[in-house]
Amino acid sequence: MSLTTTYSAEQIQEFMVSKLAEVLEVTPAEIDVNEHLENYGLDSAQAMTIISQLENLLGFKPSPVLLWHYPTIAKLSQRLSEENQDTSTTKDSKTTTPILDLGAEAVLDSNIIPEGNNKVDVTNPKNIFLTGGTGYLGAFIIKELLVETQATIYCLVRATDVAEAKSKLEKNLQQYAIWDEKYSQRLIPIVGDLAQPFLGMGEAQFIELSANIDTIYHSAALLNYVYPYSALKTANVLGTQEVIRLACKTKVKPLHYVSSVAVFESNAYAGQVVKENDSFDHWQGIFLGYSQTKWVSEKLVKIAGERGLPITIYRPPLIAGDSKTGICNTHDFINLMIKGCLQMGSFPDVDYMLDMSPVDYVSQAVVYLSRQEKSITQAFHLQHPQPASLKSLVEWIRTFGFKLEMIPYEQWQDQLINNVTDQENPLYTLKPFLLERWSEEQITIPDLYLQTRRPIISCEATLEALTGSSIVCPEIDSQLLMTYTSYLMQAGFLSLV
Ligand SMILES: NC(=O)c1ccc[n+]([C@@H]2O[C@H](COP(=O)([O-])OP(=O)(O)OC[C@H]3O[C@@H](n4cnc5c(N)ncnc54)[C@H](OP(=O)(O)O)[C@@H]3O)[C@@H](O)[C@H]2O)c1
Repeated sequence: MSLTTTYSAEQIQEFMVSKLAEVLEVTPAEIDVNEHLENYGLDSAQAMTIISQLENLLGFKPSPVLLWHYPTIAKLSQRLSEENQDTSTTKDSKTTTPILDLGAEAVLDSNIIPEGNNKVDVTNPKNIFLTGGTGYLGAFIIKELLVETQATIYCLVRATDVAEAKSKLEKNLQQYAIWDEKYSQRLIPIVGDLAQPFLGMGEAQFIELSANIDTIYHSAALLNYVYPYSALKTANVLGTQEVIRLACKTKVKPLHYVSSVAVFESNAYAGQVVKENDSFDHWQGIFLGYSQTKWVSEKLVKIAGERGLPITIYRPPLIAGDSKTGICNTHDFINLMIKGCLQMGSFPDVDYMLDMSPVDYVSQAVVYLSRQEKSITQAFHLQHPQPASLKSLVEWIRTFGFKLEMIPYEQWQDQLINNVTDQENPLYTLKPFLLERWSEEQITIPDLYLQTRRPIISCEATLEALTGSSIVCPEIDSQLLMTYTSYLMQAGFLSLV
């Protein structure tokens, strides 16, 4: 029997109000227990702080995901008090989130039907619309489009006005060493937001743009490994629906959609070879909210294809740095994991393959393939044809002089729980992603990426389609890893002391 005290919903509610007020630096009277917690603008770290305090009070670890499924303090307190009663014999709470029927989510607005009977020029578009240009892959796709085409690129940017949008776009391209003043006339920022109807640009501008552009690259998405589906749906799923609406409006425009190999995360694919154009109907067992949104979004794109829109799908694995310069997104999962593990001094000893491809390979392949007639209706897999093992990466990091021990996964998880207690370590905000347990099996998301659980993702057809271009995925060898590590050290992201 546990000695855990039992608290009523009212007591938990009072506690949460005081803690939320503390985190937000307001008075408890200013907290409305019926307000959606999302509207208080909590970031992952603040949410984690409240979760830790609740853990201390309740004597068990509430799932951070509950914050999203029971979105107000009133509802969450009620749920936690029920769980508090149930945990008299167990220490950790299980994730009892309702199963989401992703199949039922994949419904494309029936009004979205390709309009007009214009001839589509895949090879030489004059006006391109691109989303995600202020992000990592989007920046490299812009680079390729600027070099390989003469097109003007209209970029959707979240900003208050055009001047801010322009500067945000420029700064992002500068960060990745892509910006060149000579291209400035060809980059037109469009202020908008994926999470709004008509992409937040107003119906009139939306219709005008739909007549003006010839092709669309949709690379934007909210990449958050902690939030559930409900928190990501508006931007990722409904945003994709708005992009499809734009592609179909006034005239037909080919849609190039950046998806993810995560669409095959269902355990139905474990151990199976999945080819580019295989169906991806199984969604049961995709637990990560982000992956769920990618599955549903790709389904919407497929439905648009069935309605006659020319579509092409690109599924990258984790996207690593530029193979020539090492420049990368230091906030991405691989880099945060390496930095966090170096701080911990340990890395989990797991049977993983490094499912990553350099960003220059991914962007070159996307742009090359997008300009081939025969790519229409096809999907492509951009993962590395010869992936290396995670162990080889850790061994290589060690040879560089970093101290890093490989320890059993459960031991590493214990260290993460007990030693990573604040934001000093970048893994702190990823704790829910790394530790949350799902389904009857009580597996974590990283368990899903163990070799035995993963599909074998074939990229044969993609390599075939790239034959004739000079695009080759660089080998994951010591030269590439040296390029990456040197950049991370120069940028001050990693240091030996
Ligand atoms: N990175 C990977 O390892 C990886 C792997 C597989 C697939 N992918 C896919 O590749 C694509 C690009 O990923 P990435 O690594 O380049 O991501 P990223 O660096 O996080 O960039 C995301 C982009 O999406 C934009 N965005 C997010 N929410 C938006 C909204 N509501 N309205 C307008 N724009 C919004 C961001 O704009 P702000 O600047 O305004 O935030 C940013 O430009 C995504 O579709 C992702 O799912 C990525």
